[in-house]
Amino acid sequence: MADESPLVELRGIRKSFGAVTSLAGVELTLGRGEVLGLVGDNGAGKSTLMKVLAGAIQHDSGEILVDGESVRFASPAAARRKGIGIVYQDLALCDTLDVASNLFLGREPRRGPFIDRAAMHAEAGRILRDLHVRVPSTRQEIGRLSGGQRQTVAIARAVSTQPDVLILDEPTAALAVAEVEQVLRLIADVATRGVGVILITHRLQDLFRVCHRITVMYEGRSVDNALVSQLDTNSLVDMITRANATDADKEAASDH
Ligand SMILES: Nc1ncnc2c1ncn2[C@@H]1O[C@H](COP(=O)(O)OP(=O)(O)O)[C@@H](O)[C@H]1O
Ligand SMILES: [Mg+2]
Repeated sequence: MADESPLVELRGIRKSFGAVTSLAGVELTLGRGEVLGLVGDNGAGKSTLMKVLAGAIQHDSGEILVDGESVRFASPAAARRKGIGIVYQDLALCDTLDVASNLFLGREPRRGPFIDRAAMHAEAGRILRDLHVRVPSTRQEIGRLSGGQRQTVAIARAVSTQPDVLILDEPTAALAVAEVEQVLRLIADVATRGVGVILITHRLQDLFRVCHRITVMYEGRSVDNALVSQLDTNSLVDMITRANATDADKEAASDH
């Protein structure tokens, strides 16, 4: 039954760009209310995989199941309609617009032909309060906010579309310590509401703070998967580096 299916299941996802194989067969599952850490070296294929799930890139082969139903997204809008939300690493915020305008970009509340600014700011305030996101004012230009505030506004924008799945690509990579805390709290809060979150990160502290499970990628493949509760720092580092070491060993062996 649909309730017993994972929220998301990726089976054997492959994608090449010309001669470059970015994804060489990836398996991944995500449950409701679960925070899945997606880890692996630069170039492992994490961002490409998430763009496939979010409809920004079309895969060559393999299957995407959402709620047990096989889907293929022709566009980001099609993925959004199926409840997939994503925050890209570059955030895609508009620096010269204020907080409320960024939250509602392209779907501003209207009164006749005009944007209803009063309603937009009131609703923006409500969304941010609900998510415990603190900014000086919804009328503040985004370009004047700190990195952490910009990141939380970008996440709030994705969350306000009420996705079932929220993908975050390295949301804490460029943040100061206090800002990281705000983003991690927001992630935990969103998951508590039943949203499945996929968190791409290089920060081991973040994995231990908010993730229930991690999937490790290496050179376009998913190579390992484990519950965070069964890992400590050493075993996690081992897991992430094992794939690389195994590969290096193979190369060393074949040199002889
Ligand atoms: N549009 C593209 N065209 C060609 N190669 C790409 C494209 N997007 C990603 N790649 C390649 O795919 C591989 C995986 O990249 P990426 O998914 O960004 O890895 P990660 O996010 O794990 O660092 C890299 O070798 C990258 O250069
Ligand atoms: Mg990436």
